[in-house]
Amino acid sequence: MNEARDWIKNASSITVLTGAGISAESGIPTFRGAAGLWKQFRPQDLATPHAFARDPILVWEWYDWRRGLIKAAQPNAAHLALAELERRVRRFALVTQNVDGLHQREGSRNVLEVHGSIWKLRCTACGRSWEDQTVPLSLPPCCECGGMARPGVVWFGESLPTEIWSSAERATLHCDVFLVIGTSAAVYPAAGLIPLAKSSGARIIEVNTETTEISSNVDCTLIGPAGELLPQLIGSNA
Ligand code: OAD
Repeated sequence: MNEARDWIKNASSITVLTGAGISAESGIPTFRGAAGLWKQFRPQDLATPHAFARDPILVWEWYDWRRGLIKAAQPNAAHLALAELERRVRRFALVTQNVDGLHQREGSRNVLEVHGSIWKLRCTACGRSWEDQTVPLSLPPCCECGGMARPGVVWFGESLPTEIWSSAERATLHCDVFLVIGTSAAVYPAAGLIPLAKSSGARIIEVNTETTEISSNVDCTLIGPAGELLPQLIGSNA
């Protein structure tokens, strides 16, 4: 922990990759693991373009349920620590696989949402995209043009938003320290940022409640809940 804290203190450029684990202490379920969403639900029924084409109401009901959980949740100490870190470091980027918006709610600014946002809607007819925080939504939500809207998230089999992804790659290539928090690092291309950071010479620090596929390839793995470890690592509770 002490060494990792020094790397962060001395870094002028930090990039962070977060996953569902950072929001777990806010009461939002993760995807994998014993209580994960993908244990209860099948991704092919709910999180693919094919699933939406087959049964848009079912897909929307699931997203509407998640929007309700997220709206009722509060950001936790880990989100707060990252917002503080951003204010201290010269160059900072927060790449998140999360669609919950909790980083922004806690004040993070340079957030790259590589899997989209659950608060965004996109028209399947005209392509218009807008934000709507209404919970619950009246289903199915429609665009001004009368077309049906879909959730503004990235589903399995879809490409990541091009510009956001390019910014994430750039931030990864040019950082001194790359922090990986609360992700199983099982989903690509997001997980590919970790070897990219390593190949460009960044120190990699992982924070997770358990070891993952990447643990043997990082400079330091800190085991424990992000809400406890991040304030210590960043020195925000000193
Ligand atoms: P996962 O559910 O795969 O992994 C969550 C990780 O967080 C696991 O490694 C847990 O050990 C860890 N964890 C749980 N609680 C924690 C805590 N309090 N502090 C720190 N770590 C904790 O979630 P992601 O890696 O984010 O994509 O999943 C990646 C993508 O897979 C998601 O964005 C989603 C999903 O399918 C799409 O929907 C496209």
